[in-house]
Amino acid sequence: MIAVASTLIVACGGSGSSTEADNSTVSENKAASDNFAAGKELIVKSDCLGCHKEQEKLVGPAYVDVAKKYAATADNVTLLAGKIIAGGKGVWGEIPMTPHPQIAEADAETMVKYILSLK
Ligand code: HEC
Repeated sequence: MIAVASTLIVACGGSGSSTEADNSTVSENKAASDNFAAGKELIVKSDCLGCHKEQEKLVGPAYVDVAKKYAATADNVTLLAGKIIAGGKGVWGEIPMTPHPQIAEADAETMVKYILSLK
């Protein structure tokens, strides 16, 4: 559980200014696949990968496990985007997720749409 530092990817560069406030439903294929690529990029640029891997649990849950737990609905996208920004704890264990107040709501939602596409 404490294998943080070894895989910490320090990519906290510029806070992306992409504000694709695309509120269309997650299942719209074309818009969705654009979103997935954008979401992955936002995740790579942020600090997420220091605590999350796509396929394996690290400090936080694997993104595939998050995708299994939550259906890709608009409500869940809003819920999880809020947790990325405000932080969260108690859903997957004792370890809390740090808040990310610098991430714009629209960017957080784009990240979540990507995560929930990983089923
Ligand atoms: C300091 C480590 C850390 C960082 C950095 C981090 N997370 Fe997390 N994340 C966690 C932990 C721990 C949990 C589990 C929290 C819980 O049990 O409720 C979590 C949970 C989540 C969840 C599921 C929330 C839920 O309630 O089920 C999502 C989605 C998520 N993280 C996305 C992200 C994204 C996107 C980023 C980058 C912007 C990020 N995380 C950065 C540690 C981190």
